[in-house]
Amino acid sequence: MWATGLKAEDGYNLWLRYTKANAPQLNSYRTNITGILPAGASPTIVAATTELFNGCNGILDRNLSLRINVENGTILFGKIENIAKWVTTKIDIPNNPEGFILKTIKENDKTFTVITSKSDIGVLYGCFQLLRLMQTGRKISQLDTMSTPTIQLRLMNHWDNLNRSVERGYAGISIFNWHTLPEYKDQRYKDYARANASIGINGVTVTNVNANAMVLSRPYLDKIAALANIFRPYGIKIYLTARFSAPMELDNLKTADPLNPEVQQWWKKKTAEIYYLIPDFGGFLVKANSEGQPGPQNYNRTHADGANMLADAVAPRGGKVIWRAFVYSQDADDRFKQAYNEFMPLDGQFKENVLVQVKNGPIDFQPREPFSPLFGAMKKTPLMMEFQLTQEYLGQSTHLVYQAPMFKEVLQSDTYQNGKGTTVAKIIEGETYQNKLSGMSGVSNIGNDINWTGHLFGQANWYAYGRLAWDLSLSSESIADEWIRQTFTNEKATIHTIKAIMMSSHQTLVNYMTPMGLGHIMGNGNHYGPAPWSNTLSRADWNPVYYHKADSIGIGFNRTSSGTNALSQYATEVHKLFNNPDSCDERYILWFHHIPWNKQMRSGKTLWEELCLHYYKGVNDVKMMRAQWLSLEKKIDIQRFEHVSMLLNIQVKEAIWWRNACLLYFQTFSKMPIPAKYEQPDQNLEYYKSLRFPYAPGNG
Ligand code: GCU
Repeated sequence: MWATGLKAEDGYNLWLRYTKANAPQLNSYRTNITGILPAGASPTIVAATTELFNGCNGILDRNLSLRINVENGTILFGKIENIAKWVTTKIDIPNNPEGFILKTIKENDKTFTVITSKSDIGVLYGCFQLLRLMQTGRKISQLDTMSTPTIQLRLMNHWDNLNRSVERGYAGISIFNWHTLPEYKDQRYKDYARANASIGINGVTVTNVNANAMVLSRPYLDKIAALANIFRPYGIKIYLTARFSAPMELDNLKTADPLNPEVQQWWKKKTAEIYYLIPDFGGFLVKANSEGQPGPQNYNRTHADGANMLADAVAPRGGKVIWRAFVYSQDADDRFKQAYNEFMPLDGQFKENVLVQVKNGPIDFQPREPFSPLFGAMKKTPLMMEFQLTQEYLGQSTHLVYQAPMFKEVLQSDTYQNGKGTTVAKIIEGETYQNKLSGMSGVSNIGNDINWTGHLFGQANWYAYGRLAWDLSLSSESIADEWIRQTFTNEKATIHTIKAIMMSSHQTLVNYMTPMGLGHIMGNGNHYGPAPWSNTLSRADWNPVYYHKADSIGIGFNRTSSGTNALSQYATEVHKLFNNPDSCDERYILWFHHIPWNKQMRSGKTLWEELCLHYYKGVNDVKMMRAQWLSLEKKIDIQRFEHVSMLLNIQVKEAIWWRNACLLYFQTFSKMPIPAKYEQPDQNLEYYKSLRFPYAPGNG
């Protein structure tokens, strides 16, 4: 206990803490949980029951026991046909089996809180929703909600290796202990599944996209099957990352050519083996011909040839193939254009059960990217959104960055590909082109750290990602509100302060790292810290100087027709919007234009002054975030308070580092002073250039 009287918490329980909600709305709520666990109840209903009991008992601070008699304030939950035994009121049920109804029904002086669906998993989702309402202190006496997910495949992509290292992982090692599976079933696997189900995530790939063929070998499939058994009651399917050369590596085939009948047969047999062990296997996720991974192009075949071969193998069992569009080539004049150039010609050639997974932006998860021009352009292929929750380029796990505003910025971008209002959200929902499939993936930020995500606030990104995949229309603010209430408190002033920190955090990070459309100026390899000067890697498009193109005239990448013309990959309206430096949104300007240092920007300041202003504002705002957090000392338990405080100290220090290093370096081109009103860098450029971090985490 701390002077605040708040029990120290380590963050393990995430947003499922189920502590007394202190919400007056709930005080008079009389609850029984009833009619449940009929003989033969499914494991999903058992899971829902356990969750409701633990949840209600904790939140309402009661000691409910399983009661079969129906009284005022009874929660009735189960599939619609079971509910009908208790109430006569007609309930309209969503067709989508994952959808659910939460409804207050009054009959014969009795009040029922009904949670129902066509399926058990819908019931579980409904239970989690009720618990969310209770934890967030909402009134639950007059419910009338129907909820269905917007996106069908709501996946978590782990980049975890079989040796438990995690590529771009900053929260410890992998939660999946392959060595002790299948026998040892860590409680954490179940808690992981609960957390995912509570926000509607319904699939996970458990291994890295830079795949190891061994995961498809029988001993590993047995381990995967054990995980699948734990995840199944929570509605979570396992997908596997497939190494394209697996037939050669596992069974000595001479080739992995997707048009070779022996190869096709191999994948069919392998798939049958997987389905034998995991009847609800979701399918394959493939990174091919990208960053050294093998793929169909090794045999002069296309991505479509490769994807379709796997699609044929999984199709009889309803499996999907998720084929990544993250490709770039050293021969291209502009990395920005590569994915579009490789994938657009294949539009219409993919089989029905293939989705193409596209990163939100054209390069690689930079702090701010314009949306990938593939969204909306591929009209005959369902495109899946890939967001990166692990903060590879966003301060890794030491910076507090709430990513939902960034996700929303991308989702709300208008592609104009099917007329005004064709937002990225509408494309991935499948609405615009009536795609039969839709999906979203989040590259996981989860590891075996006690609080799962390294930084406690990383949990908010996991949470927000899941909630958005369920309902793309939710605002980042309302998601933050939910998360804060469940994670910390329902107390208004505290919510207000934490929300202010979260909502400003992404723009703040952009300001101190990559303002005005800069990107990819981080350290080589480990991607830690600033290194805009870096120019030593063998490929041009791996080096930061390729991306900012600073010279004596100005800075930025000219992607207009006088440059690489990458802008022509967008619809005309978007092209026009970005094409003119005078009308281009200044948040993106250096993505598309090489701007002279002394050009007058919209504020009247020169570009150089604006850059300085953004970098200094970033540092000031992160100091402000820290001050806001410190003002909560009496409101947050000591363990979590100090955890976040210490990380904010690191964030302030690193923001100053980013600002100083970048401005000193860019100044060697602009030859302009950092305005005297600002605190001047306390080290010189040589110092920043000399810093080395051979053991920075995340390199896999
Ligand atoms: C980034 C990241 C790699 C990762 C790759 C991918 O380039 O640095 O570690 O493998 O993205 O998305 O496949």
